[in-house]
Amino acid sequence: MPLSVVILAAGQGKRMKSDLPKVLQPLAGRPLLKHVIDVAQSLEPADVHVVYGHGGERVREALRDEKVNWVLQAEQLGTGHALMQAMPHIAADRTVLVLYGDVPLIQQSTLTQLVELAGPRTVSLLTMMANDPNGYGRIVRNARGQVQKIVEQKDATKTQLKIRECNTGILAAPAKALKSWLSRIKNNNAQGEYYLTDIIALAVKDKVKVAALVSPTVAEVLGVNDKVQLAEVEALRRQQICRDLMLAGVTLADPARVDVRGTLRHGSDVFVDVNVVFEGTVVLGNRVRIGPNCVIRNAQIGDDTEVFASCVIDNANIGPRCQIGPFARFRPTSTLAEGVHIGNFVEVKNSSMGAGSKANHLSYVGDAQVGSRVNIGAGTIVANYDGANKHRTIIEDDVHTGSNSVLVAPITVGSGATIGAGSTVAKQVPPGKLTVARARQVTIEGWQRPKKQPKAS
Ligand code: UD1
Ligand code: CA
Repeated sequence: MPLSVVILAAGQGKRMKSDLPKVLQPLAGRPLLKHVIDVAQSLEPADVHVVYGHGGERVREALRDEKVNWVLQAEQLGTGHALMQAMPHIAADRTVLVLYGDVPLIQQSTLTQLVELAGPRTVSLLTMMANDPNGYGRIVRNARGQVQKIVEQKDATKTQLKIRECNTGILAAPAKALKSWLSRIKNNNAQGEYYLTDIIALAVKDKVKVAALVSPTVAEVLGVNDKVQLAEVEALRRQQICRDLMLAGVTLADPARVDVRGTLRHGSDVFVDVNVVFEGTVVLGNRVRIGPNCVIRNAQIGDDTEVFASCVIDNANIGPRCQIGPFARFRPTSTLAEGVHIGNFVEVKNSSMGAGSKANHLSYVGDAQVGSRVNIGAGTIVANYDGANKHRTIIEDDVHTGSNSVLVAPITVGSGATIGAGSTVAKQVPPGKLTVARARQVTIEGWQRPKKQPKAS
């Protein structure tokens, strides 16, 4: 049977105490709902429907590139009512898999098993053995161990509350029967809601088999309702990501202190020290070393490059065998060829630097095209901004700029030029020569330092 997935994501998420809709709260840098959409798509279903409601337009806008069918649930009348909104969009011959927008760690392999269990006369239900079943619906089985129904916590008897097997909310059912059950559920319960969970008792009544699959881990079916659970799920996701990285050969100084908020691709023998945050898409070449306390966003770093402590790298393409930092900052968008050294307190913005060039101390390189083997002396500033417009600076191959020089853009420094320390150059600098632009040093003969007069007593 072809598969349709429905993701329920219309709940308000009041317990988050946030203006951001619950399903947009970030987990590993992506909205909770995005994780669920991704795992749904990994099953290659015929279609994916997302039931949205509260904060709806923001949710749609944030995930507008997703190939899903958005279904509005204007009023949140319960999980059964939510699923009902999607059913008119689903053909009768489908298996329907129901996922929750706030259960983000669910694994593809578990869902594949669950879907395989479902059939034209079988509903499959994902359950879990909870250590603390509080808040969950309980799975009620008969003496022969067959699932009879699900009872919500608020509707459960004292005996039922002792049941440890809980409903994860995730289930797979044949579309035709599901439509009929949904049309029969009522809201005469403690919460006055249309419970999706009531379809189980209806299936039993119709002599349709209910196959329960106990989730292999409790972690993957954890629901996220508040910031405490969000942090717990974040930690679990971090563990997964770091485990995958380590199994793929990356050395992590401490897997509890690396965050990947996006995609990290890497070569072999990469080392990552503590408190490093990767954002967006980051690609690390072979033998790259990342020092402690770095933030690296949308960057590519070539083989054998070392990034020392406390660097911020944003949208840069850094070549092989470079040395970066400590305390270097890259702003979008810069490109470094091989063997470039960027040292402490150096900021590079929207610039390119050729092979072997160096800016080792206290410099600003902005809107500049720097050639190869250039040495940017300590304290050199490329003054790219006149208060209204930004201008480009071209520094050709083999240039040396003296310490504390200012290059006022737009300007070209010819190849092989040397600029004397302390110079402010605002005109073209010819190639191959020494250019000095500073007051000449003079010594005044016979000058005497003024003397303090003793105070009159
Ligand atoms: C639900 C289950 C419970 C299960 C638990 C697992 C029901 C009645 N109860 O309870 O058995 O143990 O999940 O986490 O199904 N939603 C809508 N529209 C609505 C209401 C909810 O789209 O009108 C969505 C929410 O956004 C959420 C999901 O459905 O993604 C679950 O809703 P929630 O209110 O969190 O259900 P629970 O009380 O956790
Ligand atoms: Ca929930």
